[in-house]
Amino acid sequence: KKIKLKVPATVANLVCGFDILGMAVHEPYDEMEITISKGPEITIQHEDPFGLPEKASENVAGIVLMKIKEHFQLTHGFEVIIRKHIKPGSGLGSSAASAAGAAFGANALLGNILSREEMIHFAMFGEELASGVRHADNIAPCIYGGITLVKSTHPIDIIPLNAPDLFVIAVHPQVEVKTSDSRQILKKNISMKSAVEQWGNIAGLVAGIQKNDFALIGRSLNDVIVEPVRSILIPKFDEVKMKSLQIGALGGGISGSGPSVFMLAAEKETAKKIAQMMKSVYDEIEVESFVYVSKIN
Ligand code: HSE
Repeated sequence: KKIKLKVPATVANLVCGFDILGMAVHEPYDEMEITISKGPEITIQHEDPFGLPEKASENVAGIVLMKIKEHFQLTHGFEVIIRKHIKPGSGLGSSAASAAGAAFGANALLGNILSREEMIHFAMFGEELASGVRHADNIAPCIYGGITLVKSTHPIDIIPLNAPDLFVIAVHPQVEVKTSDSRQILKKNISMKSAVEQWGNIAGLVAGIQKNDFALIGRSLNDVIVEPVRSILIPKFDEVKMKSLQIGALGGGISGSGPSVFMLAAEKETAKKIAQMMKSVYDEIEVESFVYVSKIN
């Protein structure tokens, strides 16, 4: 038995929703093929240039399949072929795609024995291997599609939200920002004043998403806690954000833990102009960048 999957990139946090909001986009996406093997081994083969580990216990998809195999005491293994197009370390949910794809594919091959929450439970082992943290804000939209709210990971409680008809423009400048490092630098304590402001933004954003109220989405895409600390790791972040807003973006910020930066726009023309501007900002400082114009998936 074999399954072929297209697994979408995801933008986590959605600015103010640190660790709780995320959305799936149409592009980029990974391709995965998972086969139930005759022998007990889990084998991983990467047909991409990124040099990711292929030993099952060190591979994000491999560890998820190991946990599923162990839990159900399966006697057979899995063969996995991954063609990764979501660049590792981009902040576009590359590890989540492999982890969620493994859980989703295994579930289908095993006759749909897992609920979506259980798939997320297993996929979080992959995120833990990749960054040391069991967060689900990339995995949940990868499995559910659209925009999801991770109300809690313990117990797993996911709320699928409305997916407004918006363009998502993302730029991935080729600088290294490790999720573990960009979590390390976050403040451990926040003031009540900042917390209240952030609650207002998150509540406004969720309300805006549910009501398709683009103006409300725009004025809620503000992060007073994480972005001010993390954005210093991303060259030209302030310039890209300011120019995007001038062109007509509703708003945006860091994608996941960076270094990608994303913006939302209502019109295709605006999205194209933002994409061009993003590319030229990084060309100017001779940093290679990849730009994606996509929609919420
Ligand atoms: N919510 C996580 C973070 C996403 O911002 O650290 C990492 O991909």
